[in-house]
Amino acid sequence: MKKILVTGGLGFIGSHICVSLIEQNYSICIIDSLINSEEDNLLSIKKICNLSNNFPKDRITFFKGDIKDKRFLMNIFEKAVDEQKPIEAVIHLAGLKSVNESIEEPLTYWETNVVGTINLLEAMQNYNCKNIVFSSSATIYKPILNELVTENSDLGPISPYGTTKLTIEKILEDLSKSQQNDLKIINLRYFNPVGAHFSGLLGENPKGRPNNLFPILLKVASGEYEKLSIFGADWPTRDGTCIRDYIHVMDLAEAHISALNFILNSSSIFINLNIGTGNGKSVLEVVETFKKVNKCQFEYSYVSRRNGDIPYLVADNRLALSTLHWRPQRNLNDMCIDAWRWKIRSKSKFT
Ligand SMILES: NC(=O)c1ccc[n+]([C@@H]2O[C@H](COP(=O)([O-])OP(=O)(O)OC[C@H]3O[C@@H](n4cnc5c(N)ncnc54)[C@H](O)[C@@H]3O)[C@@H](O)[C@H]2O)c1
Repeated sequence: MKKILVTGGLGFIGSHICVSLIEQNYSICIIDSLINSEEDNLLSIKKICNLSNNFPKDRITFFKGDIKDKRFLMNIFEKAVDEQKPIEAVIHLAGLKSVNESIEEPLTYWETNVVGTINLLEAMQNYNCKNIVFSSSATIYKPILNELVTENSDLGPISPYGTTKLTIEKILEDLSKSQQNDLKIINLRYFNPVGAHFSGLLGENPKGRPNNLFPILLKVASGEYEKLSIFGADWPTRDGTCIRDYIHVMDLAEAHISALNFILNSSSIFINLNIGTGNGKSVLEVVETFKKVNKCQFEYSYVSRRNGDIPYLVADNRLALSTLHWRPQRNLNDMCIDAWRWKIRSKSKFT
């Protein structure tokens, strides 16, 4: 059984990936500082995967710690080697992800995302781990209107968050070109991951005030927030609201399994792949779909445009489809239904 290190593995996307990895018979080692997640997610992963109390301990191990701490990372790789179960590959999700916060606190973003990744890559190099799937982002692209972005579209992030992601991609590219490394690297450029695990046990629960549409929508629909503010009604799109490429988090998790299997079975490679559905939906379309499929009512109003937003961002995902032999299976209805199921279930847990 191959051992995979998942950094940020208790976060929104990481926890869903962990479920898929266990279901695919990988042994996983999770690192998370819990700065934006809860240790409860570990219990939910075990519950979904039916890992009872007497499961083999190395199916899933969790280390609380920070990727900014190089010694901590080295120790994890060393421990795995000592136990003769070295880490074969890393899925690297740990990092900070708020576009708005990154504009206010750029140094925090550079230190966590870039320095943290360099620490991880040094630990990998030290312990001869050559496979990495990196969580990159569609925010690295230069905004273009009404055209799908391909992996070769112009790059030009407009936030410090996006710049840190692009910088990490560049570091990985440099590493892949260096003589002594026969690394296998996939940058998965996520578009807009939403939804939740079908069980309702895992979903998106960011600490602090959420910035993304779905977590805000869930708070409005559940009555925690009075109404939804839509940022801008005058964008140059079909209904004046921003258009994004929403992808179900379980489709994204499955893309990671395909990416991992791909690099574990290939020789040295460096590749960027867009992970989206290729299908753009406006904020208004999401709101109307959410209300309809979940039979709920709430108010919304338009407010002025938000700093850092762009009108249109949709993937050309053909390279990912052909490279990974993967295909998104779930539509916007599923994303809305699963997210709402998670919200109802998690709300009843805490009240
Ligand atoms: N959710 C999105 O819309 C989206 C889109 C594109 C890319 N991404 C990237 O995917 C990754 C995961 O995103 P997510 O939505 O699951 O976010 P998340 O915040 O839910 O998960 C990130 C996890 O990393 C942990 N973490 C943060 N800093 C850390 C550190 N220094 N050391 C150890 N752990 C740390 C957090 O506690 C959290 O559990 C991030 O790198 C993000 O930039 C996310």
